[in-house]
Amino acid sequence: MLLVTIDRNSKRSLQEQIVNEILDHIEKGVLTPGSKIPSSRMLAQELKLSRNTVMNAYQRLLAEGYIETAASSETRVSRILPKDLVGVAVDETARTVAKEVSGARAKPKHAPVIFSGPVQEIVNKNGRRILYDFWVGRAHQTLFPSKIWQELLRDCVSYSSRQLAQYGNPAGLEPLREAIAEHVRYTRAIPTTVDQIVITVGIQEALNIIARLFVTPGSKVLIENPCYQGAAFVMQSYGADLVPIPVDSQGLDVDALPEGDNRLIYTTPSHQYPLGVTMSLERRQKLIEWAERTGAYIIEDDYDSDFRYDNAPLHALSGLSKHGHVIYMGTFSKSVGAGLRLGYMVLPKQLVKPAVHVKTLLNNHNGWLDQAVMAKFIQEGHFERHLRVIRKDYKVRRDILIEELRRNFGDVDIRGVGGGMHITWTLSDDFPVDAEALKREVVKVGVGLYTMNSGGAIELSKTDKGSRRIILGYSSLDYRQIIVGMRRVKETAQRLSLGR
Ligand SMILES: Cc1ncc(COP(=O)(O)O)c(C=O)c1O
Repeated sequence: MLLVTIDRNSKRSLQEQIVNEILDHIEKGVLTPGSKIPSSRMLAQELKLSRNTVMNAYQRLLAEGYIETAASSETRVSRILPKDLVGVAVDETARTVAKEVSGARAKPKHAPVIFSGPVQEIVNKNGRRILYDFWVGRAHQTLFPSKIWQELLRDCVSYSSRQLAQYGNPAGLEPLREAIAEHVRYTRAIPTTVDQIVITVGIQEALNIIARLFVTPGSKVLIENPCYQGAAFVMQSYGADLVPIPVDSQGLDVDALPEGDNRLIYTTPSHQYPLGVTMSLERRQKLIEWAERTGAYIIEDDYDSDFRYDNAPLHALSGLSKHGHVIYMGTFSKSVGAGLRLGYMVLPKQLVKPAVHVKTLLNNHNGWLDQAVMAKFIQEGHFERHLRVIRKDYKVRRDILIEELRRNFGDVDIRGVGGGMHITWTLSDDFPVDAEALKREVVKVGVGLYTMNSGGAIELSKTDKGSRRIILGYSSLDYRQIIVGMRRVKETAQRLSLGR
């Protein structure tokens, strides 16, 4: 019901007040041209007024052209409004009110906001125009398990919908936390119990929770260079001073870590974002020793480790750490769908309570329905089956991409092929242009390629060959799109070579 307020003690008549309130709603855009307004009977009932009072008010608005009666006998705001609301107000009273309202629109004198930093681009703005889009880290839309998801949704709503009427545990729905605990115990060798699992709105919220616990303006946060924008920007938003740590072919360069008092280090050991390299076991052990020596917590972002194609994944850092130095973060964004916004943390015991407190402050807890469906999805074995299907499928897409890169460009420098949903291609020194220029050129022939910056990564200090790196996502492309897309990149490169 449209909100119309009247003041029975006002000197203005009730009829005038209704006219003014509706004019005010129109002027502010609460009521837009063509939108429905309540019938005089309904409004009279709502305001406990005689119907005549409301009808008379509507008659005046009708006569002035602000409202009209549709064929269905519904009353609507006129599709074409009188030109100037202030100039043609119905009477002196209405004119005064309208002027007061427009005066109130003067810009409020707010203090400047404290934070206005960058955010990563999570929706591809180019997407619709580009037919061959190597946009990074997206699940293939047609592979979403929609049939089984619909069945589980129906079951959850049919049998347990009362849960939707209540608040739940801020740490997350118990059956989902149990299912995740079992999943990470088996697949990542993390010896966790259910009480260490906290469900989050993706890894993005998990990063915010941890930043809230540890970062104040000026805190040093060690972070891979190059790294994932989502992590870097969150830490910066809490005032962190980011300390870049280089990455080489074995992952984070542990020897470059500073000694002394360190609080946090962020890393993506399974499939470094964006370079795609996997941290060696030796480095993992050294990293944990360093954390134990310096007292730091390691944030292990394990965003796409469900996809290993050629050999088994290495043990998660969280499983290797015996003294609770690792905050493990996982997500269903890659393995099921980013739209679910479901992620989780496996926390050292001492951090569970503070993290759950922050989660409560942020949003009390994730929505019940998606958690309940995901719990069933895992418990009933659908998740494992789904992973088997998409792993096989993504591996074929990855193989085609590698084959096409080699067919078109010969002995290419590519990294990160062993897992995940993207690889990194470093353009050779004799390639006619750098990554940014190539990206700009191929867009003209319908191909989306991404540089570090446009592909969700950031270089905190210049990295070797950073300007020649292309991040290629393959999971959301069909086979033909990969083949044609790469051919077009080749044709573009040839054209650019000729033009030199
Ligand atoms: C390195 C990294 N971490 C985390 C995520 C996923 O975050 P979320 O779970 O918030 O979707 C991504 C997604 O692109 C990523 O690339």
